[in-house]
Amino acid sequence: MLLPLRARMSLSPPIVELDSVTKRFGDDSRSPAILDGLTFRAAPGEFISLIGASGCGKSTVLRLIAGLTAPTSGRILVENAPACTTPANRAFLFQDATLLPWLTVRANAELLLKLRGVPSTARRERALRLLELARIAHLADRHPRQLSGGEKMRVSLARALTLEPSLLLLDEPFAALDELTREHLNEELLALRERSRWTAFFVTHSVAEAVFLSTRILILSAGRIAHDLPVDLPYPRTATTREQPAFHALVSQISRLLRTAAGSSRGHEAVPSSTR
Ligand SMILES: Nc1ncnc2c1ncn2[C@@H]1O[C@H](COP(=O)(O)OP(=O)(O)O)[C@@H](O)[C@H]1O
Ligand SMILES: [Mg+2]
Repeated sequence: MLLPLRARMSLSPPIVELDSVTKRFGDDSRSPAILDGLTFRAAPGEFISLIGASGCGKSTVLRLIAGLTAPTSGRILVENAPACTTPANRAFLFQDATLLPWLTVRANAELLLKLRGVPSTARRERALRLLELARIAHLADRHPRQLSGGEKMRVSLARALTLEPSLLLLDEPFAALDELTREHLNEELLALRERSRWTAFFVTHSVAEAVFLSTRILILSAGRIAHDLPVDLPYPRTATTREQPAFHALVSQISRLLRTAAGSSRGHEAVPSSTR
């Protein structure tokens, strides 16, 4: 008998494992712990959104998983190896599309493969395939200044996926875009994921965006996970998903939990800011 998706995922070995992770900035042991005993596991194929008040440590969690910074104490494993030793399997996407202005879209899309020494024919083919999947192949010869914000983010996403990562880390990638563009990109992000099934960690200030995309939502507060919530809406999720009562019920429920968690966290903003 085929097990439901969540049951199957919980049987697989975790792709990411955080065990009692504490993070302080600076050498002083009296400096406040931004993360304070954070523990969780992510199974391959999960799409996990991290939400919480501004400054609660969401970006820090992504940077720790990326191996860009080390925990003060505790353990972080990615595919069973310490996070800092295996960066090849991860790609990072930021709010700012970080394209090089003097390169064309095509050259920007090839950049990470070039840095990894992939031969030119192979990297050209792979970059073009991803530009096609992200529906921007027709813009290949333009420069970033000739693109809209949404198009720039598509290039950035296509470039990240050229690495064929098993783990994609996304830090508020669509926060600067208008709502309609953001919704389109959310749908296309899921369509791209259908093809290659990377695991995602996604930071957002939008509860609706988190519910639309995720298999699971973690609410971070006071350095820990205040709530670990499954999102049991069926995939594929499309524009009509946002019209369903179950979607609205989840958005309201999670927004309420977020407000309570943010209000009870120490010394941080009482309410998450919707803009930055
Ligand atoms: N490199 C750093 N040095 C010192 N403090 C930092 C550094 N990076 C983040 N912080 C602090 O850690 C806290 C969490 O930051 P961050 O993870 O960026 O929060 P979020 O992404 O949830 O808004 C904030 O108080 C921030 O000022
Ligand atoms: Mg952040």
